[in-house]
Amino acid sequence: MTIRSAIDFYERHPISADIIRAKLMTARGNLDNVAPDELLPHDQDHYGGLAANDALAKAARLQPGWKVADFCAGLAGPARYYATHYGVDVTGIELTPARVKGANELTRLVGLQDKVRVIEGDVMAVPLADRSVDAVLSQEAFLHVPDKARALREAHRILKPGGRLAFTDWVAHKPFSDADAKLMWAGMAVTSQMDMPAYVALIESCGFAVEPPQDLTAEWAAILKERLAMYLKLRGEAQAAKTAAGHDAFYESYVRFVALVNEAALGGGRFSALKPA
Ligand SMILES: C[S@@+](CC[C@H](N)C(=O)[O-])C[C@H]1O[C@@H](n2cnc3c(N)ncnc32)[C@H](O)[C@@H]1O
Repeated sequence: MTIRSAIDFYERHPISADIIRAKLMTARGNLDNVAPDELLPHDQDHYGGLAANDALAKAARLQPGWKVADFCAGLAGPARYYATHYGVDVTGIELTPARVKGANELTRLVGLQDKVRVIEGDVMAVPLADRSVDAVLSQEAFLHVPDKARALREAHRILKPGGRLAFTDWVAHKPFSDADAKLMWAGMAVTSQMDMPAYVALIESCGFAVEPPQDLTAEWAAILKERLAMYLKLRGEAQAAKTAAGHDAFYESYVRFVALVNEAALGGGRFSALKPA
């Protein structure tokens, strides 16, 4: 099966609220009084785990009491972390209905529903009022967004003057070949990518004062190498046992994705910017 949208990809994603609940049940025998930090080993869908959240919070200069929007919130792992560790109120915007439902179930499970909520929506048309938030954050998700300028303009619209934008995303240090572009879309719902200077220029063109970005390519390459080795081992075991081994479009594009990162044709960046007052 190939991908028609980011939703197709995330509806079949291996991290889900059901799987997280099952892991908690195995570890603790019940789901009573689960503390927010008990979810942390399971609910982060980006590279670098909690340290990546801290780096983004620092880039956004989060202050207790701020209202924050988390674009492409996933299961709200980062959103709950910002709420509990930085004292902010977070509204996540998430496209995939199953992830919106899972995010809000997990948030209720740990009693954070007054501080964190995830709304179903597209970051290219955000269901939040103008000048209503102090910061917009996002982690490793804009690679799926076909019109990044629209998403960045939406961030600018909902930010208060003086508000902060901080996000990580994939960047193409070299343009994709046509074959790679097709493969990345078919297996992983990756839309068009650009290089760091083009990304900075795009953020600026949406009205932001941009700070120098951080290149995460080497950091993400090391993580991906390990992930691919683990994935290949599990896939080999599943094939040997004649159980489902994951869909081939994903497998093929993931292997090529990791090769592109190892060649430094593809990499990561952390971007931060200010909406001038
Ligand atoms: C790699 S996950 C990251 C989730 C979360 N930021 C985290 O770090 O745990 C990317 C998420 O982006 C969501 N997404 C993709 N396109 C979107 C869009 N246009 N608007 C809102 N969410 C989107 C996907 O459904 C998925 O949950």
